[in-house]
Amino acid sequence: MNGARTLLATVALVQEAVCIPSPNTPTMNLETNYLGLPLSHPILPGAGPLGCDAAHARQLEDAGAPCIIMNSLFEEQIVREQRAAFAAVDEAEESFAEALSYLPEPEDYRLGPDDYLSTITQIKAAVDVPVIASVNGISPDGWREYPRLIAAAGADALEVNLYHLASDPHESAADVEARLLESVKAAREGIDIPIAVKLSPFFTSIPHFVARLEEIGVQAVVLFNRFYQPDIDIEELSTESTLRLSDPSELTLRLRWLAILHGRTNLELSLSGGVHSANDVIKGLMAGATTVQTVSGLLHHGIHHLRTLLDDFRYWLAEHEYKDLEDLRGCMSHRNAPDPEAIERGNYAMVLNSWTTG
Ligand SMILES: Cc1cc2nc3c(=O)[nH]c(=O)nc-3n(C[C@H](O)[C@H](O)[C@H](O)COP(=O)(O)O)c2cc1C
Repeated sequence: MNGARTLLATVALVQEAVCIPSPNTPTMNLETNYLGLPLSHPILPGAGPLGCDAAHARQLEDAGAPCIIMNSLFEEQIVREQRAAFAAVDEAEESFAEALSYLPEPEDYRLGPDDYLSTITQIKAAVDVPVIASVNGISPDGWREYPRLIAAAGADALEVNLYHLASDPHESAADVEARLLESVKAAREGIDIPIAVKLSPFFTSIPHFVARLEEIGVQAVVLFNRFYQPDIDIEELSTESTLRLSDPSELTLRLRWLAILHGRTNLELSLSGGVHSANDVIKGLMAGATTVQTVSGLLHHGIHHLRTLLDDFRYWLAEHEYKDLEDLRGCMSHRNAPDPEAIERGNYAMVLNSWTTG
């Protein structure tokens, strides 16, 4: 997470102080309803370090953000805080101390639970746009309490971040999914603000899992979370956990699943991963996204990049004579694309055979 702090500092250096919309930007109506929130357009700054305090939230709003998505409150830190308090009472409990050591240090996360809740209040007071909070939990117990507190603190909606890597050989895919659904259900039952679930791409059947989410009253899915892959330092024999920003090559995985899900679920679809340019935004919407999120693009170019994305998007729409966003949304999904086979497996062999070795 130190990398994240460095990134934040870099952003502060590179971003422009004020982001004024270009007076010549075409003004098509881009209004989008997402999570029951009327947004001025569908390009959102995604969950990350730019949503972690009121000052950055205000800069995002100035740059045209139609809402703020906060960084996640992590269950590990919640559990650790509770356990730390308990440990202070009984420090002799050795097995407990060992369990505690597996959990990340609090300074690895930017905000503790109390700070997180008060940051919601501060951001709400600082901006006029809706505020979407985020929880990253593991157990049903962990999910129950904090969504309630987050809703009570004034968040307009909640992103539930299912950042889970299945690594237990004794737990089946069905067991993992049942446990994740229980977690979402626990969050859902405690609050009445809309919920988006942020998924990883590692499910045996994404459409089936999404259908189950729909059954338990979720409003949207965010495709996809991005796992940070540890690398190996072969000289030091150590594991390197470096946070690398995304690039547009990560987009195509998202486009495929957006295209497959569009028209097959009533849930709203939000794209997260690999969006760096207006063309990426357009592709995401064409594949069927209701909204398109970007984080790495803003960390790389600065907060003002959000305005550039929006202006470039508007120009493209005007140049291509789109009158309504709905004409664009989903026009290249599996249901509507001229060659749906290209989205699924149909031309797999053909693509492999098209490789020539010069
Ligand atoms: C520095 C950093 C911090 C992030 N923190 C969070 C977080 O707290 N919660 C979350 O759900 N996603 C978090 N993400 C993931 C992003 O929201 C996003 O899903 C991912 O970066 C892919 O989008 P991108 O290609 O636009 O970066 C973070 C990403 C970065 C780069």
